[in-house]
This record gives sequence, C-alpha cells and structure tokens, in this order.
Amino acid sequence: MDLVDLERRAAAALEPHVYDYIRATSGGPDVLAQQIAAWEAIRLRPRVLTGAGAPAAGTTVLGTPVASPVLVAPMAQQIDVHPDGERATARGTAAAGALLGVSTNTAVPFADIAAEGAPWWFQLYVMRERAVSAALLRRAADAGASAVLLTVDITRLRHPRPGSGVSVEPTEWTDGRTGRRLSNLTDDERRAIAGDGGRTDRSLGVGAIEWIRDVCGLPVVVKGVLRGDDAVRVVDAGAAGVVVSTHGGRGLSSSVGSATALPEVVAAVGHRAEVYADSGVRSGAHVAAALALGARAVFVGRPAMWGLAVDGAAGVEAVLRELREELLGAMDLLGVDRVDALARDLVHLP
Ligand code: FNR
Repeated sequence: MDLVDLERRAAAALEPHVYDYIRATSGGPDVLAQQIAAWEAIRLRPRVLTGAGAPAAGTTVLGTPVASPVLVAPMAQQIDVHPDGERATARGTAAAGALLGVSTNTAVPFADIAAEGAPWWFQLYVMRERAVSAALLRRAADAGASAVLLTVDITRLRHPRPGSGVSVEPTEWTDGRTGRRLSNLTDDERRAIAGDGGRTDRSLGVGAIEWIRDVCGLPVVVKGVLRGDDAVRVVDAGAAGVVVSTHGGRGLSSSVGSATALPEVVAAVGHRAEVYADSGVRSGAHVAAALALGARAVFVGRPAMWGLAVDGAAGVEAVLRELREELLGAMDLLGVDRVDALARDLVHLP
C-alpha cells in the first residue's frame, strides 16, 4: 500500500474542510514534510549472518499484548471522516491486533468504542472545569480504558485554506460548534464547559499526573514531551510512560521533531518508563528506527484517518497491517527476529 496514494484517495472522499483539518499543521505543509524527512534521515545498519529466524512483531505496551508496535494515535471527531467514527477505527484496530487512543473530543460513546474489542487508552485534555475532566476519566475507566494519555502540548493550527470553517485549537472542539457532539458528557457538563471552562487548563503542572491516578486509578502516559528533563519530571511525578510527539506538527512549528528528540528522552527515562513516539511515522523502517532508538511502540495519526476515510474499519486495519509487514521486512534485513532485539547499534543518526 502506498500511503501517498491512500491520502490522495482520502482527499477525494472527504469534504474539503475535513481533509484540511486532518492535514493541517501549525506552520503549513512543510512542517509535516520535515518531520517525516527526519525519520527518513535515520539510516539503518543491517547485521548479516546473525542466525535470526523469521521475525515476529508482537510486543506489549504497559503490559497489554499487541500484534505489532504500531498503535493508533488519538484523534478528534472521527465521525466527520466516517459515519461510524471511532467505532470503525476501533474495529479496524482490533482486527489488526493493535491499540488505539480515544480523544477527549470524540463524538462516540466510550461503551460503543470499547465494544469493538480493541484495547484503548483515553486521551485527556484537562479542562479548566476540572470536575468535567474527572467525570470523563471515571467514565473512560469504567468503560474499559486501560491507561490515560495526558496531552500536554498546545496546538495552534494554521489551515491551508483560511476560513475553512474548522476550529483552530482542540479545546475549541469542546465549545460552540462541536461541544454538543461530545457524547460522553451529560447536558449539565456540556453547559459547564460551554464558555472558558472547556478550555485547556494552561496552569497545569506535574501534579496533574497524581490527580488523574487518584481520580481513575489508571496509569498515566504523558503525550507531547520533547525534552529529557521534562521526561524526568513527569516520570518522577508518577507517569508510567511518555509519548515523544509534536502532535503531528500541530504544536510549535519550529520545535525539534520527534525523531530528533527521541534519543534524549530515552536516555533520560528509558530505563524506568515506557517511551513512545509519534509525528511523521510513515513506514516500517521509521518504526524500526524508533524502536532501535529505544521507543517501546509508535503511534500513527493521519495514515489511519486516510484509511478510515477510504474504507472504514477495513482501511484502518489495512494501514496497520501494511506498517506491520514493512516492519517485519525491515527486521528481516536487519538480522533481528524480535522487536526487543532492535537495538541502538542498528541505526545511524544524521
Ligand atoms: C490529532 N492529534 C490529537 N492528539 C491528542 O492528544 N488529542 C486529539 O484530540 C488529537 N486530535 C487530532 C486530530 C487530527 C486530525 C490529527 C491529525 C491529530 C495528534 C495525534 O494524536 C498524533 O500526535 C499525531 O497525529 C501524530 O502525527 P501523524 O502520524 O499524524 O504525523
């Protein structure tokens, strides 16, 4: 499967403003292209005559078994991409034996997503109205989420077509036009976040990690870490893992990319927390590079949405299977048969 071609087909299938929203970054198309290029620039150093047998891609993430280290990133409002939204994403993820993140800004009830059978982590934006965030955490845990992805970066999208009518900040999905679509909230909660209460709490500190654990009892993975010292602070504060992420180029457009930040974060906390990476991961070789640099698994965002747009659950499954096959191919040529044998000496950094 050619992901560039898949995106072309998705563009033809989607409403232009939805395609634009998914494609958008905080700084135009170059931002994403540069982040993909940064993964591409990491070269692999194959070993030969290792005696390794046929490679296997299975691993665990926070103890949950997955068929490959390629997971689906949390993304908002997928009912705009496919009428079944996150239900279809979860179905395709389950069929591929993977795990998905479920956004705070989903329009699908947690129970419906969970019923598809894929393991899932609930992605949280902590709103100024803390009680509503707490209620969401408890509902997600009750519905079967097995961890919380606490997103801590700030996004500011610049749309390729100004005035396309889509919100520019994720928290804006919680009020105005789309707030009424957050179906995991009660009417009272929706009213409580209709104004500023629905905005992200920008005064958040590392204490939020313990707060989340107290509220719902789930392990917390902090998403949007790009520095080793931040990774140490959040792990010291109780995080079970971190996602090295630029939010797919939707945060600070001039920030370092995930491929660049990953080694520093692994060096800082890799021995005591799971480290994941996302943003611009587009091939099995990128996955192999991330794992060789110490990531436990990667998340993919847009490619899953292109699959969802083109072929619903089957499209999501196909993208995950393709990346798994590509990873297995890369492992074979690298001379390793298990993902935990993907070690630092197998990559050459630019
Ligand atoms: C996102 N992302 C995101 N992240 C998050 O924590 N909560 C969210 O609601 C969303 N929503 C969202 C919508 C869309 C359309 C995109 C493209 C992304 C970021 C996402 O989880 C992930 O970090 C990036 O998408 C990874 O980059 P790639 O794979 O898309 O390059």
